[in-house]
Order: sequence, then C-alpha cells, then structure tokens
Amino acid sequence: MNNARRNFLKSLAATPLLAAANAYGIEQNLRDDVEETKLIMKGRRSTFNMKSYAAPAISNIRVGYIGMGNRGRASMTRLAQFEGVEIKAIADCYEYPIELSRQILNSFNYPAPTEYYKDENSWRELLERDDLDLIYVTTPQYLHAEMASAVMESGKHAACEVPLGYTLADCWKLVETSERTKKYCAILENCCFDFFESLTINMALQGVFGELVYGEGAYIHYFPSETIFEEPMPPLSKKGGYYRFATGACNKGNRYPTHGFGPVCQAMRINAGDRPLYLTSVETDDFSTKKAFEKLLEQGREYHKQFVGVEFTGNMNTSLVKTQNGKVIQVQYDRTSPRPYSRIHMLSGTNGFVQKYPEPSRIYLEHNTPVSDEQMEEIKEKYTPELTKFLAENAVKFGGHGGMDFICDYQLIDSLHNGLPLNISVYEGATWSAITPLSLWSVTHGSQPIEFPDFTGGLWKDSKPFDLSLRGGGNTVVVPKTPKES
Ligand SMILES: NC(=O)c1ccc[n+]([C@@H]2O[C@H](COP(=O)([O-])OP(=O)(O)OC[C@H]3O[C@@H](n4cnc5c(N)ncnc54)[C@H](O)[C@@H]3O)[C@@H](O)[C@H]2O)c1
Repeated sequence: MNNARRNFLKSLAATPLLAAANAYGIEQNLRDDVEETKLIMKGRRSTFNMKSYAAPAISNIRVGYIGMGNRGRASMTRLAQFEGVEIKAIADCYEYPIELSRQILNSFNYPAPTEYYKDENSWRELLERDDLDLIYVTTPQYLHAEMASAVMESGKHAACEVPLGYTLADCWKLVETSERTKKYCAILENCCFDFFESLTINMALQGVFGELVYGEGAYIHYFPSETIFEEPMPPLSKKGGYYRFATGACNKGNRYPTHGFGPVCQAMRINAGDRPLYLTSVETDDFSTKKAFEKLLEQGREYHKQFVGVEFTGNMNTSLVKTQNGKVIQVQYDRTSPRPYSRIHMLSGTNGFVQKYPEPSRIYLEHNTPVSDEQMEEIKEKYTPELTKFLAENAVKFGGHGGMDFICDYQLIDSLHNGLPLNISVYEGATWSAITPLSLWSVTHGSQPIEFPDFTGGLWKDSKPFDLSLRGGGNTVVVPKTPKES
C-alpha cells in the first residue's frame, strides 16, 4: 500500500462518530432499540383509537411541505390541482429545490407560498405557524419520524413519505404521539392504490380467492453501485439529491419494506382481524456495495468518509412474517443486483392466486390457468374499486407512478375534506415500517424469530379492513391548472 493511501485510511480511522453514521444508525444501537422498545410496548393497550377516529372536516386545507426534492415537488404539483387545498408554506435546507418549486407554481399562476430554506432547521419555523392544517414530510427517510412527530406536536396532521421510521422507537413514538395529540400520521404508501394492487385487494377482501393463506411483496430495484454513494445536493448546486440510496444501503435488514408489504397486508386484513406475530429474516452477504465503496474511497472524497465502518446491506434480504391467524407473508429487498424491477405482489388463497411481476400481471381462479384476457376485462369491470374507477381518468392525466400517487393523494385530501377516518392509519404505517428494525435484529441474531409488536394496542381484532370505496366522500373537485403563457 502506498504512503498516501495509508495516511488517508489512518485519517479515516481517526474520524469521530460521523454525521451519516448517526443518521443511518449504528448496527449495535439499532439492535438495542428493538429490544428496549419491544419491552416498553409489551402488552400495551391503545389509549385512543386512531383507526376509527374522524378528525373534524376541513373545507379549505392549508398545506405546508418539508422537503422539496423529487417527491415534494411532484406531490405539491398534484395537490395544486385540488379545490379546497391551499399550499401556503414550503421548506427545504437548500434554495435550489425551493427555486424549482417556485417555478412550478409560478408556471400556473399559483399564489406564492412562504419559503423556509435558511438551513436544516428552517422547517421548525414553518411548524410555528398556526395557519396550517396538514404538513407533508418528503425528506430523506432518516428524518421522517422526527419531523412527523414534531408536526403532530405542533397541532397539525402529518402526511409522511415511506417508511415512517427506521427504528422501532421511531414507529412507536409516532403511534404514541398520534394517539395523544389526536393528529393523523398518514403514510403515503401509494402502491396500495396502484391499479392491479387495488383491484386484487378488493377481490381478496370480497373473498374471491377464498382464504388468503400466503402472500409475497418486495422492493427489488437495481441501482448501480456508483449511484448509491452519489453526493446529496450541495448548497445551491443544480445536482439532484440521492439521500435515499445511501440510506438504503447501510445496515442489515430490509431497508425499504412498505411498497411490497403494505398492499399484501391490506389484502390479508393485517390490523383488521389479523396481525403479524413474529418475523424471521435471512440475508445474503454483500457482494457489491463494499467493493464499489472501496473504489470510491481510493479517490479520497471527503463526503465518503462518513460511510467508513458502516455495515452495508447484503444483496438480498428475505423476511418471513407469521401472523396470529396462521398465515405467512414474505417480504424481499434487493437494490444491488442487476435484475428486473419487481414489487412482486403475490397473493395465494384457497381458491385463487394473483401475481404481479414479472408483467403481465396474472390472476388465476383455476389451478395452472390464468384468466383469459376477456375474463380479465369482466373482472376489472366487476371488481375495480369505486375509488379507482372514479379517479382513473385524472390519475392517468396527473400521474405519479402511472397514477397511483394521484389516487393516494386524493383519498387523503378527500378524507380531510369530509371528516372521514384515515384510510391508512398510523398503525399500518408503523407496522409496515417496523420490518426494517425487526429484520435487522433477526439477521444479526442468526435469523432467530423476533416477536412483532402490536402497534394497534389490541385494536387489530375489531378494526375494519382497507376501504377502496369513496366512503361517502368523492366531492373533492379537481381543477386542472393551466401553465401561464410566456
Ligand atoms: N412513495 C414512493 O413511491 C417514493 C418514491 C421515491 C422516494 N420516496 C421517499 O420519499 C422521500 C424523499 O425522496 P426524494 O426522492 O424526493 O428525495 P430527494 O433527495 O429528491 O428530496 C429530499 C429533499 O429533502 C430535503 N431535505 C433534506 N434535509 C432536510 C431538512 N433538514 N429540512 C428540510 N429539507 C431537507 C433535501 O434538500 C431534498 O430537497 C424518501 O424518504 C423516499 O424514501 C417514496
């Protein structure tokens, strides 16, 4: 090894606990978090039922955003199309994403919101306002729990990107805060509203597949190793932010579980008659990330020092969840193997089978033979949920992952307009997000099973399942904005 490299590595070794290591968590601390939080939660009863709680209707929803990156700007653009929604404040820690948001709103003559972007704490000033009802948290994953709890503590409802939290303590804190403040904490789990997922969830809930006994979900999405350690947006530069990639590569376990687990849980009535009982998780070694990282380190870039000593996620994590009613759900995570994109969405019942990915998606009502294209059209006609049918045209027009983001936004805003309980409660957000800390614990304990905490505090027994009807709402009006002529 040459001298320069030896000195560089020495300087890294002497680096104290670094920012990202804090942000992304230290393996040992994360394991302790699971054991401690599990004890705190043991046998806990819910203090207030946030699953059936209907907060007072809000006719004009005054919205704020924290995090104006890709998700924040896309969501803001969709919400600007709704009548009875006013985007009043936006926050980021950099000016560039704020500037892009300004341009978007300006392009259709939307009144300019107040901007907060002095530094990474500016979002707290936004929360001091008393003229906001709902705050979107669209920042990197490791900030979600802290920000969403602060939103509720400030007397506003929170709508938070996935996952809600990375630790069991995060998930628990959000449930406890939501119950105490009676403020919603909505997880923006758009995949529950995708066209095939919502169709098959609706069919499952109507018993078309008999008793669902097994399901699979996944997030298998290849990112070349170089992109994982791409530097996040430096102040005022025009570069995109890539926080989520690094966050998804540090530590063991399933780092992004909700897209796969959420829709399967909805179909299998998790937290609505059944609940996860325990989880076991197994993970391959890491055959990609460390190698790529070592190459980057040789170039000696300052930013990368923070990842020294961090344990990277293995290529493939597979977790199995056994439920109280004797069912099993498999959840997988792989971001580093060059294989086709897949969220899986597989449901296996006593009378039918469903599989999305690889596409085309298939429904089987007979062993070995998928329904024909004609039958599929009949099925869509009969079982496409009321919500999806009602919004299909606008969803395709305004988009967001093919339209599911628009449907996800609409049903949240429409619930608030009409004073309806949230369609996806804080308990679902916490339960789905908890796969991350639990799988980390299991992987680092030789794949031993770990008890799954009951975030509902006993409410799962009598709660109603996911409802894809309009639920008596559907009166939120979409008024497409026309870009200003230049
Ligand atoms: N539901 C989905 O389909 C989906 C898809 C992609 C990403 N996501 C999730 O959305 C979140 C955001 O992803 P993204 O792609 O928009 O990332 P991004 O990096 O483009 O945006 C994040 C923004 O947060 C800002 N930010 C960081 N720290 C901040 C602070 N302290 N205060 C205020 N702003 C701060 C960044 O400057 C950036 O503008 C991630 O958690 C990710 O997991 C969800």
